[in-house]
Amino acid sequence: MTQKSAENLHHLDETLHEDRILILDFGSQVTQLIARRVRESGVYCEIWPFTANDEKIKAFNPRGIILSGSPASVHDEKAPQIPSAVFALNRPILGICYGQQALCQKLGGKVETHEHREFGRAFITVAEECSLFHGLWAVGNREQVWMSHGDRVTSLPPGFKAVAYSEGAPFAIIADESRKIYGVQFHPEVVHTPHGAALIRNFTHDVAGCSGSWTMAGFRDLEIERIREQVGDGKVICGLSGGVDSSVAAKLIHEAIGDQLTCIFVDPGILRSGEADEVVRTFRDEFNIKLVHRDASDLFLGELAGVTDPEIKRKTIGRLFVEVFEEEALKLGGAQFLAQGTLYPDVIESVSFTGGPSVTIKSHHNVGGLPERMNMKLVEPLRELFKDEVRALGRELGIPEVIVGRHPFPGPGLAIRIPGDITREKLDILRKADAIYLEEIRSAGLYNEIWQAFAVLLPVRTVGVMGDGRTYDQACALRAVTSTDGMTAEVYPFSFEFLNRVSGRIVNEVRGINRVTYDITSKPPGTIEWE
Ligand code: XMP
Repeated sequence: MTQKSAENLHHLDETLHEDRILILDFGSQVTQLIARRVRESGVYCEIWPFTANDEKIKAFNPRGIILSGSPASVHDEKAPQIPSAVFALNRPILGICYGQQALCQKLGGKVETHEHREFGRAFITVAEECSLFHGLWAVGNREQVWMSHGDRVTSLPPGFKAVAYSEGAPFAIIADESRKIYGVQFHPEVVHTPHGAALIRNFTHDVAGCSGSWTMAGFRDLEIERIREQVGDGKVICGLSGGVDSSVAAKLIHEAIGDQLTCIFVDPGILRSGEADEVVRTFRDEFNIKLVHRDASDLFLGELAGVTDPEIKRKTIGRLFVEVFEEEALKLGGAQFLAQGTLYPDVIESVSFTGGPSVTIKSHHNVGGLPERMNMKLVEPLRELFKDEVRALGRELGIPEVIVGRHPFPGPGLAIRIPGDITREKLDILRKADAIYLEEIRSAGLYNEIWQAFAVLLPVRTVGVMGDGRTYDQACALRAVTSTDGMTAEVYPFSFEFLNRVSGRIVNEVRGINRVTYDITSKPPGTIEWE
């Protein structure tokens, strides 16, 4: 690396990350949402466990620190404690829920468990001016927030005053303006606190003095330099799936190193209508990226024939992906680097008081084990980003909206949307129904309101009547959910007219389907996919 490019890299890095916020996680379910709100305010932030060491926190040198909520109580024997570096840094602090209680306890206030718990929507009344809501809320306003707490602060530490109260929390917002320490009993990071994002922005910008230098244009420039530095004149291979993450990673790496990148697109024969062609056209023809297109549908469908168990389907598909990918990578004569679309949520060190899920609900797959076996190093240009940022970066890179704004699609593809065994004929039927459904969703302008929408071909034959004849064909189910992370999901409330139109089109236009149902199960208790 030349002196000049090293300086450039350093400069880009400084500009983008200089204003940074540290979020200390005490195990709340919604800590990631705090980070997303901070990033949306144009400020870089990282989430660290509350156990992070003091030296590391000081070295990170954040402009401000946010303390998350927690399922724990400050009265627990092993209650998580705020690291002393948080105070030693002398920077603005915002404690959210447990964060507020832990602050109070540490600084000489009192926290009690109270009979009056507040869960869900609540209203607070603004009692005094505060820089946390300056320009946003005025004294006397009644504002909607989202509460979820058992414990509450009952006596303030010296130097603090209560600037807002609610029925169940006399100290709903507390502030020590001279030390710039604030605490809120509610959750500003969730959408059910309508002004929550603006409140967090006030903290990052007005209180902590961040300027908002975190942009995807800046990230793109920095990451291009980083990739060049890491890869040098080495070769990179990247598995392209047609999904958002691998598409954005591939385009970004290509901007950095051009033809040193080769993408491998394994078509397993279980993709949706037109998807394989679209990937090849966009990446090879439009973006001029070197692309190996391997049609492996015979292999995949051959091995899947007769397989009905969802987990065996997943494992078979996962194994074949790795095998075919490895075969193609070897044909390329090897590469020193493998690109992966790892995102920030995959690398956050998580804090869990419940021990996390103990059973595997569904096993997901990736090209695990390949880098070690082939002795490759990983290039992970999206490691710092949340999914919505990956989309924004994709737009910045000029990737078409149909790819960037695409709903998530599972690695095992349509194989897990055909309960029972999979055949080419069933895949064709499902593709047609799915394409009609998505076409109608797009033309009704609903695509971006929905997290995932798809058709499922049911292993059930039902009797119908069309024209003068009796039919005995398959039934299909339509699914559409809203979600923020796929962990929980709500059914999308289509109008009856919409469902009626889609059902009519599918039965009329798709031979093999004579009945359509709409799945109205939320997650939990259902899962998003049927298998
Ligand atoms: P479930 O069905 O578990 O899905 O509610 C949650 C999210 O994960 C996707 N999904 C998968 N993605 N491999 C994947 O890459 C899989 O085996 C798999 N199973 C489910 C699903 O589409 C939803 O977005």
